Parts: sequence; C-alpha cells; structure tokens
Amino acid sequence: MNARERLAVALDVPSLDEARRVEEALGGVPGWLKVGAELFGAAGPEAIRVAGRRARVFLDLKLHDIPNQVARAVAVATANGVGMLTLHAAGGAAMLAAARDAADESAARSGRQRPILVGVTVLTSLDDTALKEVGVRDGVAGQVARLVELARSVRLDGVVCSARESAAIRRRVGPDFTLVTPGIRGLADACDDQARTATPGEAIRAGSDLLVMGRPIARASDPAEAAAAVIAEIEAGLGVPQG
Ligand code: C5P
Repeated sequence: MNARERLAVALDVPSLDEARRVEEALGGVPGWLKVGAELFGAAGPEAIRVAGRRARVFLDLKLHDIPNQVARAVAVATANGVGMLTLHAAGGAAMLAAARDAADESAARSGRQRPILVGVTVLTSLDDTALKEVGVRDGVAGQVARLVELARSVRLDGVVCSARESAAIRRRVGPDFTLVTPGIRGLADACDDQARTATPGEAIRAGSDLLVMGRPIARASDPAEAAAAVIAEIEAGLGVPQG
C-alpha cells in the first residue's frame, strides 16, 4: 500500500449534494472515502457511487445482527463495489464467518473484488465502567484482545483500533492483519470531540495501516491540499522502521 492508499477521508455529511461537493474538493487525492450511516441513510447506494468516483469506498455501517441479515447486507455491499466494510466483532464467530462467506460468494458472482472486512472491537466511547454495565468485567484492554483473537480466528482481514492500541496489536498479530485507525489529528488541528488523538506519523509508526480522518480534511479551506499534507506525513512515517 502506498501512502495515498493509507488515507480514508470520512464523508460525514447529511446529503448527496454535500458528498459531491466534498468529493469534488478532494480531487481524487485520498485513496479511500468513508461512507457512514448518516450519508448512507440519506442517499443509499448513490453515496457509494459518488464516493467511488476516484477512490475506493469504505462503508462504515458497523454491522451487528443475526448472521443471515449481516450476510445479506455484506453481499449487497460487495455487489455495489464497496472496498472495505466494518462489522462489530462482538456479533460473534457465526456472524463474522457468515459475513466473510457472503463477501466471497458475492464477489465471485458479481465479478467484483472481495471487500476488506474489518471488525470493530470496543468503541472508543466506552470505558471500563461502561463495559461493566453490559457485563464485561475485565475492562477495555481484555475485551479488545479477546475480540482481536476472535476476528483472526474467523479470518477477518483486520480490526479498527486506536493508535494507542496499534503497537500492542501489531506485535500479537504480525504483518498480515489490517489495522484501521481513526482519531488522527495533525499537530495544528483542533481535536473536536476526539479525546485521544495521534498524528499520522505516530499512528503509522505504531503499526496502523489505514488512517481515518474526517473534519480536519473535509472542512479545511482546501481539502485536497489538507489530504496531500497528511499523505506526506504518512510517507514520512513509513520511512521509519515500525515496531
Ligand atoms: O472528524 P473525525 O476525524 O473525528 O472523524 C472520525 C471518523 O472516524 C468518523 O467518521 C467516525 O465515525 C470514525 N470513528 C471514530 N472513532 C472510532 C471509530 C470510528 O472517530 N472509534
């Protein structure tokens, strides 16, 4: 993956018109555009088409349902040409395996590439206390480790994790597992509502493969220039040995 292919810009906008405007302003600079529930809810598969004009599409719906429903959603997304998809690893082994099988079958049927499937472990909005409330007694670190192992055991392609978790996960899983990291901020950016941020270079050096950035790029006065600056930081980070 080159540096451009390691940046996903989140199209966190409420309408197709807004998505078109941001896609246009990005000028094909980032390798990925991320479509979340807001834009997908507003525009459906048209959002995938707009995002996919000059980038690969990362559909971030964090699927979590019975295996049959998730399999069907993954099959449709695959046929629509989505390049990466998120699922909650807590949905369990059967759900994750059904998603993987559906992606394989749908890709073969539609002549599309199989999307990269990444598991969400523990949302960064949850802490140890919040996890206790839903019955998880051994805290965020224990639950993340458990769900990373589950994701690997069903041959998911990777997980979403914070830059703080990347180094430890990378040591456990080796090189062939995709680590997708949000909460990235340049030194000059505002943190918005992200509590724990890392710079692009820090995240790459910690072992993250794909960095997700929204507001600092999409709301910049020149989004293409802002994306290019992040890609340069990623490149610099790649020049340093990881570990
Ligand atoms: O605007 P900002 O850079 O904070 O956008 C971050 C993007 O990454 C959002 O689309 C958000 O859904 C996503 N994300 C996150 N934190 C997570 C998982 C995903 O901010 N733990």
